Amino acid sequence: MALSKDPDWWRQAAIYQIYPRSFKDSNGDGLGDIPGITSKAKYLKSLSLDAVWLSPFFPSPLADGGYDVADYRNVDPRLGTLEDFDQMVKALHDEGIRVFVDIVPNHSSDQHVWFQEALASKPGSKARDRYIFRDGRGKNGELPPNDWVSHFAPSAWTRSKNPDGTPGQWYLHLFAPEQPDFNWDNREVQLDFLKTLRFWSDRGVDGFRVDVAHALKKDLSKLNKSYPKIDSFGINQHGKDILFDRDEVHEVYREWRKVFNEYNPPRVAVAEAYLQAKRRMIYARPDELGQAFNFDLLGAQYDARTYKRIVSENLELAKNEGSSSTWVLNNHDQVRHTTKLGLPKGTKVHEWLLSDGKDAPLDRKLGLTRAKAATLFTMALPGCVYIYQGEELGLFEVEDIPHHDLQDPVWYRNIITKRQRISFGGRKPINGVAVIHTEKGRDGCRVPLPWSSSGKSFGFGSGGAHLPQPLWFKDFAVDAQNNVKDSTLEIYRTALAARKKFQSTEELTWLKSGDPEVLHFTRDNGWHCIINFQGKPYTLPKGEILVASTPFKGRKLPKDTCVWIKTDK
Ligand code: NOJ
Repeated sequence: MALSKDPDWWRQAAIYQIYPRSFKDSNGDGLGDIPGITSKAKYLKSLSLDAVWLSPFFPSPLADGGYDVADYRNVDPRLGTLEDFDQMVKALHDEGIRVFVDIVPNHSSDQHVWFQEALASKPGSKARDRYIFRDGRGKNGELPPNDWVSHFAPSAWTRSKNPDGTPGQWYLHLFAPEQPDFNWDNREVQLDFLKTLRFWSDRGVDGFRVDVAHALKKDLSKLNKSYPKIDSFGINQHGKDILFDRDEVHEVYREWRKVFNEYNPPRVAVAEAYLQAKRRMIYARPDELGQAFNFDLLGAQYDARTYKRIVSENLELAKNEGSSSTWVLNNHDQVRHTTKLGLPKGTKVHEWLLSDGKDAPLDRKLGLTRAKAATLFTMALPGCVYIYQGEELGLFEVEDIPHHDLQDPVWYRNIITKRQRISFGGRKPINGVAVIHTEKGRDGCRVPLPWSSSGKSFGFGSGGAHLPQPLWFKDFAVDAQNNVKDSTLEIYRTALAARKKFQSTEELTWLKSGDPEVLHFTRDNGWHCIINFQGKPYTLPKGEILVASTPFKGRKLPKDTCVWIKTDK
């Protein structure tokens, strides 16, 4: 199937995120890989997708699930080769599906040749200038340059070793110490990323997801200023914050846009920028990345008023900036929405996760019912919808992965130590130091997919799975849902196909529902979407029911349900 040259193909697309190490393992080593993705091209096609986005598959020591890239222009040998990648792109393109890759520009892996070269070079050298090295404070430079913190806690600085093994300068990392930040004022760094964008575009890649797009530029003249807490969502500095969302970062993306426009159709990009909607949308301007993830629904209250406010605000902002809005309910960093929506009101999700799910009862039936309603609602909105692998199966977060199997640096790095009396196996207590984890991390949404309801790793591969799969996965496997009426998978398939067919202008009209808990809107071609959050059964307008998030009888829409109806107009 030939892909269209329409430069606007992405504006109302359905894009599916693949976390390659957990999608499908073709060689039985327990890790998903590129040939595994190729083998599932038909499955992806059955979802009527416009594109897939692959989380990093580049060579990486995996200090952060691949977001620590050692070589930006290659494939990790554990996941395949560049030839495998080309075959995958061809197989997906043949099915009419485009491909996005993930660009991680803020930091590399500490195993990247440039960082290794920097460590082997002298302070002040050209090689060190590609990263952010500074002398420490204190008599012998033994203290970090300042109190800046990293996302993966605690300090954003790690002291390097000189080639002779003595302690050296400190380098900045806004994430793990294995992820040193690039110096984005360095022209060589800027040019190397242009090379990477062309490298993948020349191989037929259609778009890029840009990791922590708002972090690249820092004000390093403010090393004396304190920055003890990261909360990029709360930033209100109008482009003048020391570390995030600085105005100069937009120069980077304006230069990238010129590269994207060298291709026909122009390459597409989406910014990951955890910022308030207004600032985030600047990244989505047509002369920059073009699109930005809208994360506002991720932590939103499940109620009509909140959803309507978020939708209206984002549609307006997107229109003003010349972009389309995106809708995101899940990704590889988030607790799955089925789980969030099934927890008692007021539950602190991250604390619940940390308790391995023991803190509060999870109502799986309710969670899945609400999650499907929320999904159907977002799929009917004007704009582009992002779906995360496993969402179409109705998977929940795996909240009780044994601690020794966890991989995420968020788990390993967010710890406090406490001196206390410890007793092992009923023995006499001794004085010791207890390690207490304060964050569970993101492994629970990254567990390999169940393709079949039996077999060692539920069809993921022949050799087990790199994160343990729970037994309940069998009921959610693809083969348990294929062609099963009203299964979550079939509802996604029906909805995504109908969405493609009825997609129209990027407008919606809210209709009065008469119930504050019911939202009802139409698109301009008679496509109605109605969601009943917590309201009374709602009488539906006449017309053909295209799809319902949960089946119901008659013409009254029950609570926690969303439906699409097609009227003549
Ligand atoms: C955002 C990515 O989504 C996340 O998985 C990663 O840990 C950080 N950026 C650092 O690259």
